[in-house]
Amino acid sequence: MGNYQDEINKRRTFAIISHPDAGKTTLTEKLLLYGGAINTAGSVKGKATAKHAVSDWMEIEKERGISVTSSVLQFKYNGKCINILDTPGHQDFSEDTYRTLMAADSAVMVIDASKGVEAQTRKLFKVCGMRGIPIFTFINKLDRDANDTFELLDEIEKELGIATCPVNWPLGCGKGFKGVYDRQKECIITYSDTQKGTKEGESKTIPLSDRDACIEAIGEERFGILSDEIELLDGASAEYDLEEVQRGKLTPVFFGSALTNFGVEIFLNYFLEMTTTPLPRRSKGEIVDPVENDFSAFVFKIQANMNKAHRDRIAFMRICSGKFEADREYKHVQGNRNLRLSQPQQIMADSRTILDEAYAGDIIGVFDPGIFSIGDTICAPKDDIMYEGIPTFAPEHFARVRQIDTMKRKQFVKGVNQIAQEGAIQIFKEFNSGLEEIIVGVVGVLQFDVLKYRLESEYNVEIKLEPLPYEHIRWVVSSDTPLDKISGTSDMKKIVDLKENPLLLFINAWSVGMVLDRNPGLELSEFGNM
Ligand code: G4P
Repeated sequence: MGNYQDEINKRRTFAIISHPDAGKTTLTEKLLLYGGAINTAGSVKGKATAKHAVSDWMEIEKERGISVTSSVLQFKYNGKCINILDTPGHQDFSEDTYRTLMAADSAVMVIDASKGVEAQTRKLFKVCGMRGIPIFTFINKLDRDANDTFELLDEIEKELGIATCPVNWPLGCGKGFKGVYDRQKECIITYSDTQKGTKEGESKTIPLSDRDACIEAIGEERFGILSDEIELLDGASAEYDLEEVQRGKLTPVFFGSALTNFGVEIFLNYFLEMTTTPLPRRSKGEIVDPVENDFSAFVFKIQANMNKAHRDRIAFMRICSGKFEADREYKHVQGNRNLRLSQPQQIMADSRTILDEAYAGDIIGVFDPGIFSIGDTICAPKDDIMYEGIPTFAPEHFARVRQIDTMKRKQFVKGVNQIAQEGAIQIFKEFNSGLEEIIVGVVGVLQFDVLKYRLESEYNVEIKLEPLPYEHIRWVVSSDTPLDKISGTSDMKKIVDLKENPLLLFINAWSVGMVLDRNPGLELSEFGNM
């Protein structure tokens, strides 16, 4: 379709995932240096220098020094247009991270070489696995003491269930770190600590065939170890297969040190070759081709009050096909009406650039007067596209919320509803109790603080949260009996969500099975749909 095929094929849209502290922010920052998107290291996030990540929009983030929201960073490198979806690493915000992964075409998994696979890596990996997107592994912090390389690979294979294919191989670690061996080009690239520079500097590339030069660079002992390891590797590791990579069955593995900016450019170059152009998505069971179709996008994230001065709300959309043009009218499918997207912008650091056009693969933020919900589709008025919804994750913590000043009921309901629309919390009501109380469910307990803080600062409503002991939630998918007739356990509570869908809450996991036994024909699900 038209002349924007080239533009779309230039796009590479990915998310970086990691357990907190593995080095995601540092790697992101170094990648941005290559695109010239930032000038000095430290402007993404420098805890030590008290500068804040570009995504640190909310006060609460500053107070806690963690990143609550995800941002999108775009830069150009070697003729490619790269969109990095920054995902918050803090475990309490995993739901936002999951949604962000829905907008990515591939993921880069950062692993701390001295820690291996960690809890959060496992969780995030599972979501990537569900989507079958390509996953690249960057094993970081080789400038420090690291676990045995073979063991690290073994752990990834066993714990995450994905085959590994090292693209390069570390030459020692910590004080003895000498660089990496590039298996495809059959050369060694010597380590240099260029953390103060903006690009990889003094490192040398020496073909393995030049034995003397290699020994001079890395020492006889390391050269000997490398030769043995290469032999082992060639015999033991999976062969590189681009198709398997793109199906998410094989992860190419890279080694480096983001902090000292070693191995980052090597990684970037291979990554851009191996990852995919914008992937097609499904609408009503049919594939929507990114190039062949007119504009379409879905909302994967809504964020309120990014800018205090404007008291605004931004809906982030992932463009799935075609070209977006600012002056055209589009259809908001769920709202069943045509509209112009106002103030389309690209969010970069603290600044926003108003866009005239954008292409499949890009992320745009548009001003949202409160009409969009997560998962909504926007497309050309003539088209009939509706992307499959984004799953909502089962909240694990529940609380009853009340406003302290009963006169502020209106603001309270509005605030709670808007925050729920953004997907930061899920709200429920008691079933058939006639009570107007609202039950809030969150994935991470920190979201309760966010809710309280935002209601106070944005809606001027003080609330009281009364924690409830429930930990397990199930949507009722189908049932032979109406909700009030379902025979439960003493720890079970019946509630409904915003759309009046019935749900059950349980304190104990074993009660779920018991209730299923007692009610033949009852079908429960851990996931709702936004
Ligand atoms: P995250 O976003 O995944 O949470 O990790 P982040 O990049 O913030 O890195 C966590 C810590 O690890 C930081 O140190 C960072 O400097 C350090 N780090 C990242 N990459 C490397 C690496 O390749 N080698 C070494 N040695 N350290 C690395 P910090 O002390 O917590 O923060 P800061 O004081 O350096 O800002």
